[in-house]
Amino acid sequence: MTTALVTGATAGIGAAFARRLASDGHNLVLVARNEKKLREHAAELHDRHGIEAGVLVADLATEEGIAAVEERLSDRRHPVDLLVNNAGFGNKGEFLEVPMADELTMLKVHCEAVLRLTSAAVKGMRERRRGGVVNVASVAAFVPRGTYGASKAWVVQFTQGAARDLAGSGVRLMALCPGFVRTEFHERAGMGTDNIPGWMWLDADNLVDAAMKDLARGRSLSIPDPRYKALMGVVKLAPRNLLGGVTSRTGRKYGPQ
Ligand SMILES: NC(=O)c1ccc[n+]([C@@H]2O[C@H](COP(=O)([O-])OP(=O)(O)OC[C@H]3O[C@@H](n4cnc5c(N)ncnc54)[C@H](OP(=O)(O)O)[C@@H]3O)[C@@H](O)[C@H]2O)c1
Repeated sequence: MTTALVTGATAGIGAAFARRLASDGHNLVLVARNEKKLREHAAELHDRHGIEAGVLVADLATEEGIAAVEERLSDRRHPVDLLVNNAGFGNKGEFLEVPMADELTMLKVHCEAVLRLTSAAVKGMRERRRGGVVNVASVAAFVPRGTYGASKAWVVQFTQGAARDLAGSGVRLMALCPGFVRTEFHERAGMGTDNIPGWMWLDADNLVDAAMKDLARGRSLSIPDPRYKALMGVVKLAPRNLLGGVTSRTGRKYGPQ
């Protein structure tokens, strides 16, 4: 039986990955900060699918939290075959409105944790000549959208570069770029969502199904859903200053819903 470790597994896309991987028969290690939610989710997945579901309480915005997950991923006696770096969040406000401490926390969770956890996991995977890493980025990686978009652009560049370096090693790395997904993300960030058109919303379980197909195909970049594939095609052609005006407003209306 194989084991998958999912960060940010208590809600949204991470919880959807955990459901999907459990139903595929993988044992799980679920990582997040909220211990109660982690334990409830692990018990539910164990009862429903008969898999082993362990929990690891860790705040990936802290040195101790990252180190604890690195240690689990480096444990050669209990190898992790699939890592999903999914934990993430949005900050409320535009550039200079967001406190510097929050900007730096975002870089820690979205970039430093992803770099360190990917490295810890891939070393063992390369020795075993098999394994996979899914790093959850965003379509915001392709448009000017503050530190959030910049951090996700880093995730895409890092993941595709590492995938290239590890080609032929038996280890697959893929950056997953969702569009808007109905999760706790926007509410947690204090973002209103009423200016996001209905057609732009994706379902987390469908997103994960599409991502798993792309991973099986060996893609290093996954943009699930034809609507977003088309939109990203347009984005490539649009002038960058026009793009910045539109994308910095969509989904960034802050305040009560
Ligand atoms: N929803 C969207 O529209 C959307 C679009 C594109 C990309 N994404 C990306 O998808 C990923 C998942 O987002 P989501 O929409 O599923 O958000 P969500 O519903 O708010 O879930 C976020 C998860 O991350 C965990 N988390 C947050 N900060 C953490 C930290 N410091 N340490 C450990 N765990 C932490 C949360 O658990 P605890 O609070 O228990 O720690 C939770 O399980 C993020 O990387 C996000 O940037 C989301």
